[in-house]
Amino acid sequence: MKFATRAVHAGLDPDPTYRSVIPAIHQTSTFAQPAVGEFVEDYDYARSANPTRSALERALGELEGGLGSSFSSGMAATHALITAICSAGDHVVLPADLYGGTFRLVDKVLTRFGITYTLVDQTDLAALAAAVTEQTKLVWIETPTNPLLNVVDVRAVIDGLPGEVFVVVDNTFATPVNQRPLELGADAVVHSVTKYLGGHSDTVGGAVIVRDPAVHEQVRFIQNSIGAVPGPFDCFLVHRGLRTLHLRMAAHAANAEAVVGFLKSAPGVSEVRWPGFSGMVSFRHPDAIGIAQRTKLFTLAESLGGVESLIEVPQAMTHQSVEGSDAAVPADLVRLSCGVEAAEDLVDDLHRAIGAGA
Ligand SMILES: Cc1ncc(COP(=O)(O)O)c(C=O)c1O
Repeated sequence: MKFATRAVHAGLDPDPTYRSVIPAIHQTSTFAQPAVGEFVEDYDYARSANPTRSALERALGELEGGLGSSFSSGMAATHALITAICSAGDHVVLPADLYGGTFRLVDKVLTRFGITYTLVDQTDLAALAAAVTEQTKLVWIETPTNPLLNVVDVRAVIDGLPGEVFVVVDNTFATPVNQRPLELGADAVVHSVTKYLGGHSDTVGGAVIVRDPAVHEQVRFIQNSIGAVPGPFDCFLVHRGLRTLHLRMAAHAANAEAVVGFLKSAPGVSEVRWPGFSGMVSFRHPDAIGIAQRTKLFTLAESLGGVESLIEVPQAMTHQSVEGSDAAVPADLVRLSCGVEAAEDLVDDLHRAIGAGA
């Protein structure tokens, strides 16, 4: 079936007890056992499994084309996948332009457990090949990158790597509407579902979707052992968000296109970046902080991917953890998450904010 149909129906079957079209939110920590060790499916304790979470995990798997697991945040998902795949002595290749929290996790936490890493511009395939060593276990791709919105050719990266290297794509910015990395040959996909998949800025969550059932078991093992699981209500919210993902992504992209059309000739604005899909736009301006503080409709806030528009200055906000590293971002960069409001209102807001400082 087409993506739009899958988005609306993925993971949802009517409730088996009352036939409610949307199944109940199973707000419970445990499940009554009729006899010792007897329970329904794998529902014995809600850290290990919960039916509301399972429904979301099935949906995520259906949309990305693999086996899904949900987490309490995108970072918990990232942590689970890297620790499921890598051990002390293994080497990881990261993009030189990436979400600051991913860099911080590897640089400040996982290196303490014997994992090493190299940052490399993944649009440069020769540089990427040169960064791979005998110890390289995993290549982490983020595309489009946060915040510079560079697009990496996932298939070309995979074709240039030794077959045994595990390839992960952080698909948070593209979403499965625009890019399905497992279909391109990647081994795993990670999402901050906090962003477009949830889509309403009302919950924090993460997901891992993998192709291989054995890897799925490893991820599940970490999920249960570490315990960074989302609550049932958060799972319900993300699952509800998924059902309109295709509609929202089209509206985000249309608004981003209108905003880019304005920014390209706005005074003082340079390097306008938009990958041609999704609602993320970045640009440079000497008065980046002033603009971010003057917009009224674009709320000054971290995060992205919700129905409302947000503005931020990555160097001072979301990307402080990469300051001083090779992944540092320019101080005059502004990042926009274009929501689904009327395009004219978004352009007017930027026009006022940029014009007022000129
Ligand atoms: C591309 C990307 N990956 C991962 C994350 C981490 O997700 P979370 O904030 O849900 O932990 C973020 C958060 O901004 C992100 O932008």
